[in-house]
Amino acid sequence: MLFDRFDLQPDDPLLALIGEVRADPRRHRLDLSVGVYRDEKGQTPVMRAVKAAEAQLVAGHASKAYLGPAGDADFCARIANLVLGACTSRHTAGMQSVGGTGALRLAARLLAVNPRPHGAGPATIWLATPTWGNHVPVFEGAGLRIRTFAHTDAKGGALDFSAWLEIVERAEPGDAILLQGCGHNPTGIDFTSAQWATLATRIADKGLFPLVDLAYQGFGLGLEEDATGVRALVERVPETLIAVSCNKTFGLYRDRVGALLMTGTQAAPLAKAMANAKGLARGEYSMPPDHGAAVVRTILESAELTALWTRELDAMRARLVQTRAAIAAHPLAADLGLSELADQKGMFCLLGAGLRVVQRLKDESAIYVAPDGRVNLAGLPLSRVDDFVAKLSSAYRAPQPEMAQ
Ligand code: LMR
Repeated sequence: MLFDRFDLQPDDPLLALIGEVRADPRRHRLDLSVGVYRDEKGQTPVMRAVKAAEAQLVAGHASKAYLGPAGDADFCARIANLVLGACTSRHTAGMQSVGGTGALRLAARLLAVNPRPHGAGPATIWLATPTWGNHVPVFEGAGLRIRTFAHTDAKGGALDFSAWLEIVERAEPGDAILLQGCGHNPTGIDFTSAQWATLATRIADKGLFPLVDLAYQGFGLGLEEDATGVRALVERVPETLIAVSCNKTFGLYRDRVGALLMTGTQAAPLAKAMANAKGLARGEYSMPPDHGAAVVRTILESAELTALWTRELDAMRARLVQTRAAIAAHPLAADLGLSELADQKGMFCLLGAGLRVVQRLKDESAIYVAPDGRVNLAGLPLSRVDDFVAKLSSAYRAPQPEMAQ
């Protein structure tokens, strides 16, 4: 029996929590696991700009005929504009992808299939850890060799920028390096503008290839501000790949909306890379689904809907900033290693907690955080900040199992 020869596989440890939370009957349960924005009532409503765009699409959508493996070209052009600004000096190209993860996968496949000098091993990507739990499976599955390095200080609260510079020194020319554009997942620790500029110059000098994961533009400092690092990089290095996700920024999670952008100093090589990416997409899934990208395009084509969407995004960011500030100002914050939260950005922060604390939070307080101790701050109502900090403190204080009576 073919099926029976499979080994049973565990569920993805993060996504498994979606079902676990749903099945938890405790009314006060708090889901801070998967990266989804929730309002003060714990809901993830469809954004008003999205509803309006969907209404327009239903009324006016003329055809659902195929668009081809690159998907909606106007959507890609709008996303390129959002990320790179109106006047990049680089040539750019883009294709629609199945969420940001799909863009990462396509980018990784492109890196993996790119012809390498005779005798060179598999293409290598450098990953700063801790990082999003799915980076390794996505890159490994695409055929990349992964090398990791630690990018935070021992306490995990601050960036170890020297580690980045050291790795750029150590890496071989031609190696890829993953950079998160803003709202680092899981740490919330972003580069400053000066660090982006330094790193970009070093990466260019060394001949490394940057792949940017940009999933939270607008959740950090603002739509424009959150793109400055990526833009600085693009202007300094000859070629980049940028995996963009619209899932969070447009609240289109289950519609899986994303784009793979490419930038280069010359048009002809870019066209070759695009042709290869389209071929890879055709072999993987043929063509991307249309609906979510059409919604985003409809919003970005309309000044009115763009203004509405930006206001909604700004409100989400403002609540996140408030949540961060409230936690950082809590009297127990320093003890719990949470004082830096107000300086960090985006949806996530990483507890220095081990699995035991994560488990206690779940068992005793019905608080779900990701298995690596990542907290989705965008899921925490302001009214429950004190409760969360108190429960976290008691989970830390609980005796070790072997010491328990
Ligand atoms: C997350 O990091 O929680 C989200 O990006 C969901 C996912 O795909 O892991």
